[in-house]
Amino acid sequence: MRMTVFGTGYLGATHAACMAELGHDVLGVDVDEAKIKSLTEGKVPFFEPGLPELLQRNLDSGRLGFTTDYEEAAQFANVHFIGVGTPQKKGSYAADTTYVRAVVESLAPLIEGEHLVLGKSTVPVGTAAQLQALADENTNDGASIEVAWNPEFLREGHAVKDTLRPDRIVLGLHEGGNAEALAREVYADALQQDTPFLVVDLPTAELVKVSANAFLATKISFINAVSEVCETVGADVTALADAIGLDERIGRKFLGAGLGFGGGCLPKDIRAFMARAGELGADQAMSFLREVDAINMRRREKMVELARQELGGSLLGRNVTVLGAAFKPNSDDVRDSPALNVAGSLSLSGAAVTVFDPEAMANAQRLFPTLNYAESIEEALRGAEIVLVATEWKEFQELDPEWARTLVAGEPVHGKPIVIDGRNCLNTEAWKSAGWEFRALGRG
Ligand code: UDX
Repeated sequence: MRMTVFGTGYLGATHAACMAELGHDVLGVDVDEAKIKSLTEGKVPFFEPGLPELLQRNLDSGRLGFTTDYEEAAQFANVHFIGVGTPQKKGSYAADTTYVRAVVESLAPLIEGEHLVLGKSTVPVGTAAQLQALADENTNDGASIEVAWNPEFLREGHAVKDTLRPDRIVLGLHEGGNAEALAREVYADALQQDTPFLVVDLPTAELVKVSANAFLATKISFINAVSEVCETVGADVTALADAIGLDERIGRKFLGAGLGFGGGCLPKDIRAFMARAGELGADQAMSFLREVDAINMRRREKMVELARQELGGSLLGRNVTVLGAAFKPNSDDVRDSPALNVAGSLSLSGAAVTVFDPEAMANAQRLFPTLNYAESIEEALRGAEIVLVATEWKEFQELDPEWARTLVAGEPVHGKPIVIDGRNCLNTEAWKSAGWEFRALGRG
């Protein structure tokens, strides 16, 4: 099939390359000339394992191309995906749907014949219906656009696998159109592998996505709230999570207690869900998400407080090393990153903060230029009075505590060097027996 993908960020670029990998002819479209240039040259402008190889392979095969030209896109195909961003509006919790609207508004007058728009971006419920009206207003005689919604559930760091082998495909549509038949053709490969395919109405499809993210955020904040209680009584939240997670109704996934969630999706999506529920007069229904958000933000403060306490009450002038800047491992994304937020707060409290991250250094530096950035773990650890592990990169989990001990400043308060495990990802016993004062969030 021929198709276009509007928006070439994490979602759009991955989707375009994966659709080409499945054998479709794909044109990626973006208004950002630099992004299009980079993708055309086979360079992925962000870190995503497996994507550079996939991009190059499909550029070489001729099945994948990129353009900034909407006219070309309108002529290239009759199926168009939208994967542009819906960031949080400035000064409000609501999602900004400007970019999604702009795609439909610009494309509609350029098309001839019947076209299908499949929205993938996360949008407030009701957006698809508004876009349908916008498309109807802007198409010429003899042309039409059907708007359907096909939410995307990909996780950064696993984006290629999640797109090629999704755990479900959801399609929201209004009756009487071609969306289902065309979507079945697009996803023929996954459907052959018995991937569940759920056809629902437009508002349900829009709500599926925000509900999934709200549930994940709630699960993380649940365990982090329990972790606050564990801290007061000296209980161990990770052992507790293992125990409750064995109940298959609960499950262990997303019960990783620690610094909490960040990134480009969960924080903004729960806020947009609250804002939309409020607009619809159902604000009470989602008000618990305010607490989910608050619990999540408190974890970052707790980490800073713990560092202050461990250093004897003041951070002023102390050498603090933060391992991690990305919001999670296998990503260079620092949007609303708990790790970078903690590093920034420590610095604003007077600490001399050194940060190291395997992939997110450039993005972190752009966002927080005043921190000190080390070129290696070794350089980051050298002279540190306290070490905070804020993103659970494999490199940090596999760090040899004996070797690390030889690099740090030594014995600032306890007669031992101090490490705080903000992601409950280190081998506690190994660090303790190597002579470290070991602290972790949620473990007394
Ligand atoms: C999320 C959703 O998982 C995905 O389905 C959706 O399409 C986009 O948003 P992503 O933002 O890539 O994906 O990250 P995810 O793996 O969900 O992690 C989100 C945050 O939660 C990270 O900061 C992670 O560190 C944190 N997290 C995750 C925890 O704190 N504990 C956990 O147990 C799991």
